[in-house]
Amino acid sequence: MSEQQQHITKSGFETRAIHAGYEPDPTTGAVIPPIYATSTYKQDGVGGLRGGYEYSRSANPTRTALEGVLAALEEGEKGFAFASGLAAEDTLVRTTCRPGDHVVIPDDAYGGTYRLFDKVEQAWGVEHSPAAVSDVDAVRAAIQPGRTKLVWIETPTNPLLNIGDIEALAAVAHDAGALLVVDNTFASPYLQQPLTLGADAVVHSTTKYVGGHSDVVGGALVVRDLDLAEQVTFHQNAIGAVPGPFDAFLTHRGVKTLGVRMDRHCDNAERIVEFLTGHPSIAQVIYPGLEEHPGHAVASRQMKRYGGMISFRVTGGEAQALAVCERTEVFTLGESLGGVESLIEHPGRMTHASVAGTELEVPADLVRLSVGIETVEDLLADLERALSAGA
Ligand SMILES: Cc1ncc(COP(=O)(O)O)c(C=O)c1O
Repeated sequence: MSEQQQHITKSGFETRAIHAGYEPDPTTGAVIPPIYATSTYKQDGVGGLRGGYEYSRSANPTRTALEGVLAALEEGEKGFAFASGLAAEDTLVRTTCRPGDHVVIPDDAYGGTYRLFDKVEQAWGVEHSPAAVSDVDAVRAAIQPGRTKLVWIETPTNPLLNIGDIEALAAVAHDAGALLVVDNTFASPYLQQPLTLGADAVVHSTTKYVGGHSDVVGGALVVRDLDLAEQVTFHQNAIGAVPGPFDAFLTHRGVKTLGVRMDRHCDNAERIVEFLTGHPSIAQVIYPGLEEHPGHAVASRQMKRYGGMISFRVTGGEAQALAVCERTEVFTLGESLGGVESLIEHPGRMTHASVAGTELEVPADLVRLSVGIETVEDLLADLERALSAGA
């Protein structure tokens, strides 16, 4: 790492987001990493690689720049970019687990993560037990000594926004000889840096806040330890679920504004929580920033702010939840989250349909908001209209 990059690694978050992992191109001075649309690289004699580049599954300079900034933001040893969040998850499981091993997962994990463990990893001999991330004793009890290789958490969880105590859960995992993996998608590295609290690996769906513009699917892993980094490097190349340079470029462009976007997501979410609390059509507002949220104290300790995701339950049951989702105009009805535009969805029928009928099923009267960065008055008026129509 150059002296300038070493200096940047110690800078503030926004400086790292803009400058870490890349220095202006030595030949042209390009301040933004070029899109290296190439699958292979000329060698100066057999094995004479320029900058270590041999073939773009193994490494590509546009991806390298993204991986560098991700590591700097999460304060990890090394970052890795993938074609999707689930590709990152699968690569980490295959790196760290073998048939017969066991993983503890959140009892309200993102539906796709649950499906990956339940329908894919299990068929290859890696078993899982769900436990509530907010209950340290329940996670400890779910560990199978000698077999559990990973304690896998999300915090906040998707969509119930439960909070796991990263420091306490890292201690529980390490006592059992397991690694703590934190899916940091909902918080983003701006609000929370799990590796600094003892986690061993961070997973992202960069499709969400990290990319931030709903224009690219991607995933990331960042690890704290050099040995694990080497093993992930091997598996990333051996499995090959990597993003192309165009996707890496788009994700990297999004990263630069992560800090300012997250602050606006949080500002808008706080105003909406205030509006929803006490609204006659709302039975419960779920947001870690609320004092009555059971994870509020832990969230206050480990997060800078409480994020842009809000879930709420309506008084009129599933029918009203579906109607609200269909009535908003500024909030777009759609899956995913973390983009600049506000989204609304019904987890039970949409993002979490894959856990219907399992112990991870979510309430039917639940609505999830991904609060964007639009003018907050427009978001409030939109929700007011959708909640009062037909009430
Ligand atoms: C918390 C969380 N983790 C992982 C994923 C999977 O990421 P991707 O859709 O990029 O594969 C998602 C997707 O919604 C998610 O919400």
